[in-house]
Formats: sequence, structure tokens, C-alpha cells
Amino acid sequence: MISVDFFNQRVCRYHLVYMPLSPGLHKEEQMKLIGRGATAEVFDCGDGTVCKLFIPGCPVDAVKREYDNACLMEEMRLPVPKAHKLATLDSRVGIIYEKICSESALDKLAAGESVDGLMERFALLHKRIISCRTRQGMSYKQFLLSCIGRKTPDKEALYERIECLPDADYLCHGDYHPGNVLVGGDGSWRVIDFMNVCYGPREYDAARTFFLLAQGELPQEVQSTEESLSIRRRLAALYLEKMQLDYQEIEGYLCIIRECRKYETPPARKEV
Ligand SMILES: Nc1ncnc2c1ncn2[C@@H]1O[C@H](COP(=O)(O)OP(=O)(O)O)[C@@H](O)[C@H]1O
Ligand SMILES: [Mg+2]
Repeated sequence: MISVDFFNQRVCRYHLVYMPLSPGLHKEEQMKLIGRGATAEVFDCGDGTVCKLFIPGCPVDAVKREYDNACLMEEMRLPVPKAHKLATLDSRVGIIYEKICSESALDKLAAGESVDGLMERFALLHKRIISCRTRQGMSYKQFLLSCIGRKTPDKEALYERIECLPDADYLCHGDYHPGNVLVGGDGSWRVIDFMNVCYGPREYDAARTFFLLAQGELPQEVQSTEESLSIRRRLAALYLEKMQLDYQEIEGYLCIIRECRKYETPPARKEV
């Protein structure tokens, strides 16, 4: 396990801490992999913290953005794990977070817990997030533009449509789906994964969640079948109902999110 002292060094914000490993031991022998997402692997450090190590090549700026967003959400008293500091390991950049002992809301859905009850709580937490106001970080338009990359002739129309969207200052998580909500044994709900946090209209963030529930990519090991697609569509519709939103209110954003998604790549491969 990584030594606790190492994390107690006084470091300024953004100071990248090199995580030394004991000689002769592989990383896997010292840190236990406890989670994996599209952009990172999450390791238990054994001292009440985890290290979210981003995929090789992930730009440091994107990781700093996630760290800043995590701090912003904590300042807003939202239920998030504390982001302690940035770190590097084997030339990969990571963030040391407070460890949350829990299952994700997605695990709970997969285990057959009441879909209605889970979606009720899921929507309640989302409403709480998108009721916060901020102009810190990126606007949702800047985020969407950064997803589609350089303005080439084929993207001109999409660029214009994004620029004409309304402005607003509600906090948007940008990747709010059941895999990014952790439910503790004590029943507490916490949200994770802050790289796409931005500000904009509340309906934009709801449209993004609707899209992720209905059509977002599945983990590699999960097969997409007609049946699973139909379940996901019903889940998305239930989410919207719990958010007390009509499809018409999110439709415009949904079209743009779908279009942008075609160009979205993990941050490591994104054009800059
Ligand atoms: N603070 C944490 N405490 C415990 N487990 C975590 C924590 N953060 C992430 N995880 C686990 O790691 C998985 C991937 O983390 P996530 O931040 O969503 O990565 P990605 O950005 O790649 O999606 C989560 O689904 C969860 O199982
Ligand atoms: Mg995630």
C-alpha cells in the first residue's frame, strides 16, 4: 500500500505529487483497482483515499479541470467526495479523492432494486445540483464546442447552432448517470466524476442525462440488445417524469448533444 505520510506532504494547489512505489513491487501489488470508467482507473490507496488515475495521454489541463470542478461542487455543499490533491504515477496524472464505500446507483438497478425508488432519489439529487448557480469554469457552449474540435467546413452549421443556444448560469454536471452516483451503506448518495461540469440551462443537463440513460455507451462487457434498449428508453422516460420535465423542454438540447456526441472522444485523443 502507498504510505499515508506521502499524502500528508504540504503541497500547493496543482502541485503534482509523484507517488513513489516501494522498489520491487508492481503498482498492482500496492494499490487495489476498485473501479474503472471511460477516462480513468480508480485505485484504493488503503488510507481512506482513492487515486483516480487518468488514461495515459490524458491532458493535465483536463485533470486540473476535474479537480477544480470537484472543489467547486464541495464549496457549494453538494454531496461529493473531497478532492485532496493532484498526483502522478508512472507518468499518468491522477486525483486523490476521499474514498466512498458504496455501490453505484447503476449496480443497485442491476441488482433489481426498485427502479421507481432509485429514479426518484436520482432525480432529487440532480434537481439539487442544477439548482446551484455559478459562472465558474466552462459554459456548456464552450464545453460542446471543445467536444467537436476544430471548426472545419463540415462543422460550421453545428458551430452556429451551438453559439445561438440560450445562456444561463445553472450548475450542470455534464455526465450525470447512475454509474456516477454512489450510494453508501448508510443510504447517503454522492455524485462523482466532474470533468464535464459546466454552467448553462438546467434543461441542457437534464437532456444530457436523458441521452446517457437512453443511448449513452455501455461498458464494454455489456451487450446492447433490443430488449436492453427498450429498458433504457423506459428508464429515460421515468427520469424525465421524476424531473417534472416534458420532452419538448429538452428536445432542442438533445438534438445538439446527439450531433456533438459523434465527434466526442476521450480527452486523451481529443483534438486541441
Ligand atoms: N471517491 C471514490 N470512492 C470509491 N470509489 C470510487 C470513487 N471515485 C470513483 N470510484 C469508482 O471508480 C469508478 C470510476 O470512477 P469515475 O470517476 O466515474 O471514472 P470515469 O471518469 O472514468 O468515468 C466509479 O464508478 C466507482 O466505482
Ligand atoms: Mg464515470
